[in-house]
Amino acid sequence: MAGLITMDDLTNEQILSILDDAERLLPVARGEIYLPLLQGRILGNLFFEPSTRTRMSFETAMKRLGGDVVNLGDVKTSSVVKGETLFDTIQMVDGYTDIIAMRHPRQGAAQYAQDSARVPILNGGDGAGHHPTQTMLDLFTIKQAHGRLDGLKVVLAGDLRYGRTVHSLSHALVRFGCELIFASPNLLRMPEEIVSDLRSHGADVTETEDLYGSMADADVIYMTRIQKERFADEDEYARCAGAYKLHARDLSEVKQDMIVMHPLPRVDEIDPSVDTTRHARYFEQAFNGVVARMALLCSLLGVSVPAKIEGGAL
Ligand code: NCD
Repeated sequence: MAGLITMDDLTNEQILSILDDAERLLPVARGEIYLPLLQGRILGNLFFEPSTRTRMSFETAMKRLGGDVVNLGDVKTSSVVKGETLFDTIQMVDGYTDIIAMRHPRQGAAQYAQDSARVPILNGGDGAGHHPTQTMLDLFTIKQAHGRLDGLKVVLAGDLRYGRTVHSLSHALVRFGCELIFASPNLLRMPEEIVSDLRSHGADVTETEDLYGSMADADVIYMTRIQKERFADEDEYARCAGAYKLHARDLSEVKQDMIVMHPLPRVDEIDPSVDTTRHARYFEQAFNGVVARMALLCSLLGVSVPAKIEGGAL
């Protein structure tokens, strides 16, 4: 069964339909309504890299829908330390579960797993590659704030080289006709192959080092962490660390309805003074991981979300 490895696995119509499902599932995600659509189904959580939000929100999503979760747990206490290959681990978990959420430090690992799995794989991040389930919650958050996805001006800032969230998100935003500004230190620019691919699809993309000068007419500013763990050279990291730090005082000239997003964890890219401004949206964004992943789990397991959820917001 097909999983979600990159955003190319979903059409724009499928994306919008999953976002609609997510909207209707909000009261279920908040625990106001119990809707056991996934009763009897088991999710396997295979996280070979640290994770808080992605792993926990998948688990919450599954449990709020009446399903169950089995976890690989800490890699250090699994058979991986005995030398088990990814291929063998997948063969096992494939038999134990109905769907797998997976994160791995190697780019391409999720596709590799999908090629040998019977159940759908949800890519929860493969090295510096892709992070499509994060993109779905990002799109949900943007649509919630602006009522639409098309034609927005979005600034993506920070580590665009190694940041997988911005790789997946920029592909999706271009498909909805957004204008993108890539703001990063020169060393951390968006990979050339991604920029040229986006441009070949007619994207309006600007690259700059000047984050602050790009914010005035933006609808979204999407900050990212410098991905320390992916640098081969520590000195290189030291030269980029702390490149951008957004303070509340930097936001005085921005559009009233501009939202600041961040996939989290933040290190020092967003000063806590931003948290209490009308623009901060990163904690809601993290909560939206639950609804977005609920809707994805239903979609990939072939379970339809009811058009009307009793007592819901519809
Ligand atoms: C991101 C990731 O793992 O790529 N985290 C997340 O899933 N929310 C961002 C990051 O680690 O910087």
